[in-house]
Amino acid sequence: MTTPAPTTTTTTTTTPHSLSRYTGRRALVTGGGSGIGQATVLRLLAEGGSVVAADVSEAGLADTEVKAGPDAARLTRVLVDIADEASVRAAVTSAVDALGGLDVLVNAAGILRSGHTREVTLADFEQVLRVNLVGTFLMIREALPALLDGHEPAVVNFSSTAQNYAHPYMAAYAASKGGIQSMTHALAMEFSK
Ligand SMILES: NC(=O)c1ccc[n+]([C@@H]2O[C@H](COP(=O)([O-])OP(=O)(O)OC[C@H]3O[C@@H](n4cnc5c(N)ncnc54)[C@H](O)[C@@H]3O)[C@@H](O)[C@H]2O)c1
Repeated sequence: MTTPAPTTTTTTTTTPHSLSRYTGRRALVTGGGSGIGQATVLRLLAEGGSVVAADVSEAGLADTEVKAGPDAARLTRVLVDIADEASVRAAVTSAVDALGGLDVLVNAAGILRSGHTREVTLADFEQVLRVNLVGTFLMIREALPALLDGHEPAVVNFSSTAQNYAHPYMAAYAASKGGIQSMTHALAMEFSK
């Protein structure tokens, strides 16, 4: 007796592109050249939004544009170093000009530098705080005037489990993400009115 060959079925999960929750929404996404920021850009575009992807990496932004396919017609790339005040100012101005206003700011850009705390230099510690925490603050501050003129404005900040669970070798990263969490709560109280 022969054993019948097993039947295999391949299931492909597709993105529900029929959703259009962001049609007419204008979004600026930092960290848009990689990872979660890039995925956010692609989803906002897929759901009808107009998006500025901002990143310090030109290659990352080029990759995002390729992945956007035909949706790239609603995508603008802007180079920014969120740790640099002048760069943030210029990037937010270009983004608001390109979009004709701003409704959504997503602060996904961030860096992780891990290491034994006794070996972490002051420069490394400060760089993590500068990019993650100060960079998020600078983006929000510069975008606020346009957001407050926008339609149902929203700011999305990226914290991490590192801010409330203990991960070793990540003191600076945990501090930066805890700072983002606390800053976000304070801003929510300030602007919920
Ligand atoms: N991946 C995870 O598991 C995880 C977990 C918790 C939180 N997060 C947070 O989510 C966010 C995205 O993480 P990811 O894993 O997609 O990271 P990633 O490294 O893939 O992407 C980060 C992006 O930020 C950009 N960037 C870095 N420094 C910048 C600067 N000074 N100015 C502008 N852009 C800069 C990088 O070029 C990169 O494109 C980060 O804030 C990270 O801390 C990630």
